[in-house]
Amino acid sequence: MRPVAIIPAAGAGSRLRPHTHTTPKPLLSVAGKPILAHILDRVARARPERVALIIGPGPHGERLRAFASARTDLEITCVVQDEPLGLGHAVLQAKDVVGSSPVLIVLGDTIVEAPLDELTSGGSWIGVKEVDDPRRFGVAAVHDGKITALVEKPEKPISHWAVVGLYALANARLLFDSLEGLEKGGTRTRGELQLTDALQRMLHEGEELRPFPVEGWYDCGKTEALLEANRALLDIQAFPANREGVVVLPPVALDPGADVLHAVIGPHASIGAGVRIRRSIIRNSIINEGATVEDAMLDQSVLGERAVVRGTMQRLNVGDSSEVERT
Ligand code: G1P
Repeated sequence: MRPVAIIPAAGAGSRLRPHTHTTPKPLLSVAGKPILAHILDRVARARPERVALIIGPGPHGERLRAFASARTDLEITCVVQDEPLGLGHAVLQAKDVVGSSPVLIVLGDTIVEAPLDELTSGGSWIGVKEVDDPRRFGVAAVHDGKITALVEKPEKPISHWAVVGLYALANARLLFDSLEGLEKGGTRTRGELQLTDALQRMLHEGEELRPFPVEGWYDCGKTEALLEANRALLDIQAFPANREGVVVLPPVALDPGADVLHAVIGPHASIGAGVRIRRSIIRNSIINEGATVEDAMLDQSVLGERAVVRGTMQRLNVGDSSEVERT
């Protein structure tokens, strides 16, 4: 049976302000395209029967819906999560779309390199990575190649295996029963209905969950992490770019619709469509659609759509439609 993929994408993205004031987090650009486009490209390799994209109510949700409808290679159903009650609650909204198909859950701000086609072809797998301090993640205890316990953001970690936000689950019925059990019982951890708690419940019911160690894990939750993901993704999938009047230092993602002259671009610059650049040096930065950069040197910078920057070298984190100018 082909899986149904669930992509929770309703989060507010508060750690990525100001960008998430105007753009939903999954639509922020990294290495030449939105985070969600990277995720869907990877999900498509698992040949899902359908994708359930969990969106919030309001304009952010509608932008995600418009983005999803332009994607013709996947059947995407948008499901609105009316209230932000937690990741478990988000996943539960997909119950009717999933039916009894196996489930592949990939979080909407996490780009993971993993063989999703293999993970969805048998058994249940949780993506994990060993980290020094796992306290801000779900944490898995592992014994003999099996997960024995899962705890959400424990103060005293039970291991160093952080849950990366990738879950391939063969038993959808048990998943949704567990989530509904938590919901009915009013069980909350840190005020939210947690997916990790539902998985722990599945373990308790005797379900076998196996760890899948993930190497490439790009959590795009903060500006620094977004720039780190930009570097890593450009390193593995650079786009050739040659322009007259431009010195390109690869790897870069330079949109053909960007208007660039007398500039040094790269390394690790991601330049969107409709961007105008003149007499500038831009490296290790993400410049979103329609932004303007003139007479500037930018490093470690993220510019929102239509932002304008004119002036000298500086570190900036400028939201959509903002304007920074020196005369
Ligand atoms: C969620 C999950 C957590 C997981 C993390 C990965 O937490 O609840 O178990 O480790 O994603 O990014 P969040 O980042 O939404 O707080």
